[in-house]
Amino acid sequence: MSPELVKRYSAPVPRYTSYPTAPHFSAAVGPDTYAAWLAELPAAARLSLYMHIPFCESLCWYCGCCTKAVRRYEPVADYLSSLYAEMNGVGGRIPTDHQVTHIHWGGGSPNILSAADIAALADAQRREFRVEEGAEFAVEIDPRGLDEDRIAAFARAGVTRVSVGVQDFDDKVQAAINRRQTFEETQRAVVAFRSYGMDAINIDLVYGLPHQTRESVERTALKVLELQPNRIAVFGYAHLPSRLKHQALIDAAALPGTIERFAQASRLGRILTAAGYVRVGLDHYALPGDALTSKEVARNFQGYTTDHADALIGLGASAIGRLPQGYVQNHASVPEYARSIAAGGMATARGIALTEGDRMRGFVIERLMCDLTFPAHELRLRYGSACDELLREAAALVDADADRLIERDGEAFRVTDRGRPFVRAIAACFDAYLDTSDARHAPGV
Ligand SMILES: C[S@@+](CC[C@H](N)C(=O)[O-])C[C@H]1O[C@@H](n2cnc3c(N)ncnc32)[C@H](O)[C@@H]1O
Ligand code: SF4
Repeated sequence: MSPELVKRYSAPVPRYTSYPTAPHFSAAVGPDTYAAWLAELPAAARLSLYMHIPFCESLCWYCGCCTKAVRRYEPVADYLSSLYAEMNGVGGRIPTDHQVTHIHWGGGSPNILSAADIAALADAQRREFRVEEGAEFAVEIDPRGLDEDRIAAFARAGVTRVSVGVQDFDDKVQAAINRRQTFEETQRAVVAFRSYGMDAINIDLVYGLPHQTRESVERTALKVLELQPNRIAVFGYAHLPSRLKHQALIDAAALPGTIERFAQASRLGRILTAAGYVRVGLDHYALPGDALTSKEVARNFQGYTTDHADALIGLGASAIGRLPQGYVQNHASVPEYARSIAAGGMATARGIALTEGDRMRGFVIERLMCDLTFPAHELRLRYGSACDELLREAAALVDADADRLIERDGEAFRVTDRGRPFVRAIAACFDAYLDTSDARHAPGV
């Protein structure tokens, strides 16, 4: 790939885990709107639950997640009381014969919870919501210092999928990001989860971190392959120190430049695909036979999923929900979240009601991010002549595309192999809200 091409398409753009993206949510959507939207859910709605645990034992300097390092357990216990109250408030507002088909606990680090609280939170979840037998239940795990009591508690709670953070095994990189984690402790955690029957294992890797090189990411990838995870996510480090103060602790001079980042992502892609993994969407790799490779994939705030529920209910500080009518997001600050819950059982701070145009563009962007193609006939079937303008834009994009990143194949608009690394930049062409200010988004590669 030519360096000019990489530079041309590496402008900061959103990761499109939603459309419109979260910076376009506003306070026009608050608890009353959310309550009305919940009450309008179809009687037998299929729901996905997301539960956010915004605490970690220590802060990794690269971290872009909504979390806080805590030394004592008290803030975690207090937070859980608010979470129970929110579950009760939200659970009481949705149709009683809904079915929860998918659960995700993310963070932060949900394994900061004690074994007793893991059990209590899972029990409360089953009390407040109707969880379908066999529902997928995924949990994000920081494997450092993880004990067997918690692993057993997750197994008893019904966890089926575990997403383990690795990032990089190189000593120098780990020192520069304040995250010491050996291969051995990671391996112990993975083996233990499997021995308790939780054998769907995801591993997160990051490229573009300080001191990383093509060779160092290759060494990490080869170690990860020894663990044979079912899925591997490869994220590009998003360095936004003006928004995330702790990232200023990272020496910007040690960060790889755009061309090196691109080369690291390509090297990882080659190693994982040579080892038999199938590339899914922007940044996921899955073993053949994994549901991500055989079912229709959707994009949500946790990345890629095969879950196609009618609504996503977000619980906890900063959690985002998606309802047929639009998106809602809770207060990100834990004290504000707790105050709102205490005042009325809901903590919606912002959101957006979807227009027909948002849905249409959201469909195109999601299909591009998942399948790297979108079918014009399906767009027409769903939206009729309202999609004419969007299809004209797509045709104009193909006509003007001297770099051959997108092509038209009959009724389908398809990202070419050459265009694949730049799928976010291509999706951004259909984003009617696009704000190109550098402070907001991670680099495009
Ligand atoms: C909530 S964390 C995962 C669970 C656990 N807290 C851990 O770190 O092991 C989710 C993932 O987001 C990714 N991540 C965090 N900050 C990032 C950033 N600034 N840029 C890119 N990826 C990031 C990491 O791969 C991390 O594993
Ligand atoms: S990367 Fe994970 S463990 Fe590290 S601070 Fe972020 S959420 Fe916590």
